[in-house]
Amino acid sequence: MPATIVLGAQWGDEGKGRVVDYFAESADYVVRFQGGNNAGHTIVVGEEKLALSLIPSGILYPECIPVIASGTVIDPKVLLDEMDMATERGLDPSAVKLSSNAHLIMPYHRKLDAAIERYLGKNQIGTTKKGIGPAYTDKYARFGIRVQDLFDEKIFREKVEAALEDKNKILPRVYNTLPMEADAIVDEYLEYAERLAPHVTDTSLLLWNAIQDDKAVLFEGAQGTLLDIDHGTYPFVTSSNPTAGGAVVGTGVGPKAIDDVVGVAKAYISRVGTGPFPTELFDEIGDAMIDLGGEYGTVTGRRRRCGWLDMLALRYAARVNSLTKLFLTKLDILSAFDSIKVAVGYRSPEGKFDEFPAQQSVLYHCEPVYEELPGWGEDITGVRRYDDLPKEARAYIEYVQEASGVDVGWVSVGPERSQLIELS
Ligand code: GDP
Ligand code: IMO
Ligand code: MG
Repeated sequence: MPATIVLGAQWGDEGKGRVVDYFAESADYVVRFQGGNNAGHTIVVGEEKLALSLIPSGILYPECIPVIASGTVIDPKVLLDEMDMATERGLDPSAVKLSSNAHLIMPYHRKLDAAIERYLGKNQIGTTKKGIGPAYTDKYARFGIRVQDLFDEKIFREKVEAALEDKNKILPRVYNTLPMEADAIVDEYLEYAERLAPHVTDTSLLLWNAIQDDKAVLFEGAQGTLLDIDHGTYPFVTSSNPTAGGAVVGTGVGPKAIDDVVGVAKAYISRVGTGPFPTELFDEIGDAMIDLGGEYGTVTGRRRRCGWLDMLALRYAARVNSLTKLFLTKLDILSAFDSIKVAVGYRSPEGKFDEFPAQQSVLYHCEPVYEELPGWGEDITGVRRYDDLPKEARAYIEYVQEASGVDVGWVSVGPERSQLIELS
């Protein structure tokens, strides 16, 4: 596992945290490359549950260095609180490395995120309201403020004042909210700067050296392929690139350094927020997936929408990410169903589709064409060997493998660290 990307193959919450924790045992570095504290990654070890939003999921292994690279957006208070939480839990966050090029989420980004959603009304995206979109907007508009700006008070103050010049016109006039004061923001952020300083590093160089030295580097995706700003169900997406290319752009590591790309897919699908979702279920099966799967957002507590696995979407994820392996999670949840459906096509007024359609409107109008596979109807949470799975569960895994064109390397059968089966 010299340089491996682990990313979400669906709409997020596939179980990336637990998968990264599994691989982190033999990793030297675990690197977040995009997104911010919109992510909620859960790791369960014994009775203990750890939810992380910014610190990479390798933190449970003391010899593994957690890196937050340049493609992320950082709310400094959230990062520092998370480090405090980690310390209280007996972990050591002192080794966390933070890129000086990462962009800062500022208080006006959070305010704008909430105001824009309010303004969109029924067309809202259902963001996490953490300021992610507005922070990336400023980055690309080239008036973002970066971690390194925190360490020159004069420059930092000038940048905050310049940003507020713009935001204080928009906030009251467009969104009918109060303007904000530069002084309060500068004072607050300079305090964070002091605590962040020991963590700030040239993470691109750090990772280059690590790869030169044949260290094992794990790239931890947040969100998922279908939430990608370029390849997802735009505009119902996040504002970064959770796809494999994002790991390259968001770290400064070149594409040839990457050896493997592991796509994490739930054995069914969930989605939080609005946007098209062809296999979504509105019946008691969907409700059972939510209840049995504990499908409530780690970050916002929102009920996740659930539905059957969609092979068009999974093949699409395999394609845009060059997936080399799949990690199938939450197979145990499907034990509850007599038969299991899998979408193999879409039928819509625009025609029939057997590949994920490029024209987004199809996703709203289409009826999924399902194939039905027999369920296994027995508890599999204690199974640790592939051969001990019921034959119907093995047939489901083999079906996923064949239809996606990607080998399933691992299957998880419960949230706890040990509840997984290695296939290869
Ligand atoms: P992430 O954002 O991709 O890291 O996923 P989340 O942590 O937001 O959501 C996944 C949820 O499913 C968490 O509560 C995990 O503890 C849980 N989970 C992960 N794998 C399994 C599994 O195989 N079975 C069950 N029942 N739960 C799982
Ligand atoms: P993890 O890493 C699931 C969704 C939000 C919303 C859209 C845009 O835990 O898988 P944003 O706040 O990013 O501007 O919201 O993206 N979203 C997620 N959904 N898991 C996540 O992260 C998500 N991060 C953002 O619900 O629909
Ligand atoms: Mg999550």
